[in-house]
Parts: sequence; C-alpha cells; structure tokens
Amino acid sequence: MIVAARSEYGSFRDSLRAPIHRWFTYPAGYSYKFVEAKLDEHGLTKGATVGDPFLGTGTTSVTAKTLGVNSVGVEAHSFVHWVATTKIFFDHDLIKLSTTIAETVERAKALAQRVEWSDIWPPLVYKCFTDENLKALAALRQTIMELNTEANTRDFLKLALTATLRIVTTAGAGWPYIAPGKYHARKVTRDALAEFQAKCDTMIGDLQQLRRANIPASQHRVILGDAREFDSYVDEESLDLIVTSPPYLNNYDYADRTRLETYFWGIYDSWAQISQEVRERLLMAATTQVKIASMNGTRACPGIRQADRQIHEELSKIIHELARMRSMKPGKKTYDYVVAGYFEDMLKVLTSARNTLKPGAKFVLVLGDSAPYGIHVPTEELVGKLAIAVGFSGYQVEKLRTRGRKWGNNSQRHKVPLRESILTISK
Ligand SMILES: C[S@@+](CC[C@H](N)C(=O)[O-])C[C@H]1O[C@@H](n2cnc3c(N)ncnc32)[C@H](O)[C@@H]1O
Repeated sequence: MIVAARSEYGSFRDSLRAPIHRWFTYPAGYSYKFVEAKLDEHGLTKGATVGDPFLGTGTTSVTAKTLGVNSVGVEAHSFVHWVATTKIFFDHDLIKLSTTIAETVERAKALAQRVEWSDIWPPLVYKCFTDENLKALAALRQTIMELNTEANTRDFLKLALTATLRIVTTAGAGWPYIAPGKYHARKVTRDALAEFQAKCDTMIGDLQQLRRANIPASQHRVILGDAREFDSYVDEESLDLIVTSPPYLNNYDYADRTRLETYFWGIYDSWAQISQEVRERLLMAATTQVKIASMNGTRACPGIRQADRQIHEELSKIIHELARMRSMKPGKKTYDYVVAGYFEDMLKVLTSARNTLKPGAKFVLVLGDSAPYGIHVPTEELVGKLAIAVGFSGYQVEKLRTRGRKWGNNSQRHKVPLRESILTISK
C-alpha cells in the first residue's frame, strides 16, 4: 500500500540550519525533522532507544540526544563515522574551548607566513584553493595537530576546519565529487582563517543553546561497523525503533563523497587506498564497487533464493535484463552485479536488524527506487517483500517525493519516473 507522506518530515536543507546538524554538510544526510517526527509518531521518550544501521554523520543520534532518547548507530566509512562521533559529544568546557580556538587562530596566522605547504597534499587539494588559503589551511592543520589538548577539543577544531574546506574552496564545490576542472571557479574568495573562526563561533553558539535547553541525559553509541552485522553490536530485542536511510540503488559512490576532506587530513591519498579501506566495506550500491571475478556467485542471489523463491524469480528477471543491456551498451556498466549485490546485502541487513528490535517495533527506512539502463527496480517493494521473507509481519510504503527531475533535459537518460519513499516494516 502507498500512502502520501506528511509535510513535517522536512528536507535535507533543514539540517543545514539546525544546531549541531549544521556542523558538517553531508548531502547524503536526511532531515532531523524526519527523525523527530518518527520518534514522536512511535512514542519514543526518555529511556527508549532508537537504532540506525547506516548512521552517516549522525542525524538520528544527534536528534535523539536533543530529545533525551538513547541511540545506537553504525557507520562503515571511518571518516563519516568520525564526524558523527564528534557531533554527538556536547560536553565541552565552553570557556576553555573558546580560549583554545582564539589561540589556534593566532598561532595559525603567524605560522601561515612560514609553513611548509607546497608539497604536502595530493594534487586535488591544490586545485581547490588559492595559494593564500592553502597556506592558512596548512597552518591551521599543523596548529591543531600540535595542540596539547584533549581529544574531544582537537576533534571539535578538526571538524570546524573540515567544514571550512567547502566554504573557502574556489572550485565550485560540486558535491559530492570535487572535480575542479569541471566547475566554474568561484569569483569571491573567502578567507580561510576568518571562516574557520566563524565556523567555530557557530558551533560554540549551538552548544550554548543546547545547554540552555536543559535536555535530559541519554546514552549514545556510535559504532564503526557494518550494517549487515548490526546484531553483533546491539543486544537482541533491545530497540524500540530503527530509523535509517541506507544507500540507494543509484550508483552513488559513498566512498568518494569525502575525498577532499580525507586527502586534506592525510587519511587517504589515492583512489586505490579509498577502495581498499572504504569502498570494499560498504553495502553494494555502485558499479565502482563491483569486482566481477569475486561476484559470480553473488549474481545468482543465493541468499534470496533461499529466503523466497518468488522474490528471487522477480529479481532474477531484472538481473538478466540488466546483463543483456550491459552486453549491448558501450559503457558496459555492471548494474546486474550491483542489483544482485544490493539485495543480497539488504537481506543481511533486514535479518540482522530484526533481531535487535523489540516485538512489534518498527524498522523505518528512507529509500529511493531506481532505473539502471531504464529498467525499473522497485527497491522499496522488493525490500518490503524481503522483510516479510525474513520474518517481519508487514510493511507499508509512503511516497515522499519525486526524484530525478533535474535530468529531465538529458536525452541520454531514461524517462522512468523515480521516487523517494518511506518504507515502514513491522516486526
Ligand atoms: C544515505 S547515507 C545515511 C545518512 C544519514 N542518515 C545522515 O543523515 O547522515 C548512507 C550511509 O551508509 C553508509 N554505509 C554504506 N555501507 C554501509 C555498511 N555496510 N554498514 C554501515 N554503513 C554503511 C554510507 O557510508 C553512508 O554514510
């Protein structure tokens, strides 16, 4: 059944203006208003616990914390996980923190005149900033790393500097992938030191605002792990609700979304390294993750065949059609492998999440359908049916919005209407 979704769910843009949520712009993130609405709808108050197996930068946990609800979240991308961990810590000594920020800016200002900056990053970073800002950013980075301070303070400053990167870039910041050559350079250059200071001020202001709100204490766990093994981190039948947004089946490469940031901090310096340390650990959702040699078994969807013959048959038809299209199309995109891998992975997520929910509790997912090579894949319906196959009692789909309109004029693109939906599964 499909029902119309409600307007109080808001959009991703709400999180760009809200305290704490605005500390880092992660376009894969969803609206904190949506989480608030779901916690309210399902009656979660102090003492209850919400889970999120695809935590991203922590929208679910931060929202829960501002309402005094406990949370447990899992995220597989270590940098994204770090962002969530940093956002969920509200207990800074704000006076000490303000002093440290002021000292950091002063030291960085002086250091910028003599800092080593010309050969410290991969080329991508140099294409994204003016020389003046590269010196300031190098000086801020070095100053923060050399600070003799607590880990939480350093993380706060690191996150403020991380967020500053997209504010001061001249590369037109084409999210999610920064491709400096492809975008018109920005005309206005913003000063990195001033923007870093402004970002820190906003973040401190958010913490002051929350302190005045006297929020009841709650417990939060932010785990670096795999949603397919959610029940290995979370106690059996301990959750009152799961609210999440898994990767969509839309060929988006989550591993690449924070490339600029991870290159800047020296965490990664190449595509190969990101593949090995992040891409290969994520839920299958993009052709850049496919390794044909090791996936032939997966393409037959053995897990799904075992779970439900009818769903397996429906999915196999789609996969065969995609394989046929691949052989005809010049790009030879391996969507057949992606689709098979995606549903095999989602089957594991569903099985594992079910174990963590209390009897009768709901598993709420924001999901999009897709149409690789113009072949429609009704993702929400298929995931809903798979949920029943692994023992959930029912599911409902609410339409949130229509997707893909921005591609309307592209003659290369399919014309299948796509949507984003809320899938609510009942244990
Ligand atoms: C749509 S985003 C979720 C964003 C989140 N709701 C927020 O507001 O920030 C999906 C997230 O799932 C993560 N992810 C992908 N595969 C995963 C896996 N196997 N286990 C846990 N997280 C995974 C991605 O790195 C990405 O951050």
